Amino acid sequence: MKTFLGLCAVSSLLLFSCNNGAATKDSLIEDNIVNAVNQYTIQTNLIEQSGRVLNPRTIREDGSIVYIPIDDWTSGFFPGSMWLLHELTNDSKWQPLAEKYTEDLDSVKYLKWHHDIGFMIGCSYLNGYRLADKKEYKEVIIEAAHSFSSRFRPNAGVTQSWDADKGWQAERGWKCPVIIDNMMNLELLFEGTRLSGDSTFYQIAVKHADTTMKYAFRTDNSCYHVVDYDPETGEVRKKQTAQGYADESAWARGQAWALYGYTLCYRYTGDVKYLEQARKIYQFIFTHPNLPADLIPYWDYNAPNIPNEPRDVSAATCTASALYEMHTYLPKEGYKDTADKILKNLSTPAYRAKVGENGNFILMHSVGSIPHGAEIDVPLNYADYYFLEGLIRKRDLETK
Ligand code: GLY
Repeated sequence: MKTFLGLCAVSSLLLFSCNNGAATKDSLIEDNIVNAVNQYTIQTNLIEQSGRVLNPRTIREDGSIVYIPIDDWTSGFFPGSMWLLHELTNDSKWQPLAEKYTEDLDSVKYLKWHHDIGFMIGCSYLNGYRLADKKEYKEVIIEAAHSFSSRFRPNAGVTQSWDADKGWQAERGWKCPVIIDNMMNLELLFEGTRLSGDSTFYQIAVKHADTTMKYAFRTDNSCYHVVDYDPETGEVRKKQTAQGYADESAWARGQAWALYGYTLCYRYTGDVKYLEQARKIYQFIFTHPNLPADLIPYWDYNAPNIPNEPRDVSAATCTASALYEMHTYLPKEGYKDTADKILKNLSTPAYRAKVGENGNFILMHSVGSIPHGAEIDVPLNYADYYFLEGLIRKRDLETK
């Protein structure tokens, strides 16, 4: 099996025959598996040859790869992508790599100074627990849920996203800032309850989702990026942005996090109000006049110079992956068709890099934060992660 996939890594002639995972007739999936295997084989070989444990996030202007420390919010995506490659290919080469780069994050389970422990532990340990029956990962996931719960502010009914006593967050005058991205971290809390039987995590997740639903959305169903609460009284102090164009604009990735986040809340609770919220967010995104015909959004739906603004592929991949899940709950709404279009368009040379280019990431053209002047029109490890997850979800829908 290993030799066969090794061959695939050097030959695109074997496009339709090297997936050892579930059988699928869709050549788009097969083509993307070959491409992703080739890119991540180069990426992991490069790191393994360095003799260090490195975690790639993006590239600099000169094309060099940015490696991140384990407390960076994106540290779970690279190990996570290896787990997803393991799931996509069933090639035994990915599991030891996925384990090694996951287990490098062990101490993250104690991280309490920001909320993104959900992304970090979810993409790494939770995938390992799910895909490889790594029983010892359970303790890490539960400990991480405890750490995340330390950020719950009961009077406001939210988990606090960022500390507000230092850095640029302090300059904004926030007391308890909660960003829409935090909806993604709730998966860790739901899993914490599922794995431990302690319902506290579940209750915190539900409270956070309900408070966010109440205060973070506008009447047009778009969401704010940041809502700042008074942690003592629960009063909403400010509704603003950090990474979007303006406080009242719709930051593209924020809408994607919200869509995915409420879909996962429905997965764990069965409460239809969350699915309805996801449906409304879908309506906002896919009826927006500034959404390009290829469905890959500009970085903000209200960016001032559309169509001369960067796209954000990471928003598109997160959205597509969420839509495949929504399709399983509401199969007649066309969500899968929309997701299929997104993945198809991302698989063209306009967005998908040539093997060996783009810092060995799969997709080009994402945006980190334009207001911070950071990561503009670059590959991002989370764009790749949700692309791979979307491919798996598409394959599962088409083969099961
Ligand atoms: N969670 C940070 C971001 O979406 O950029």
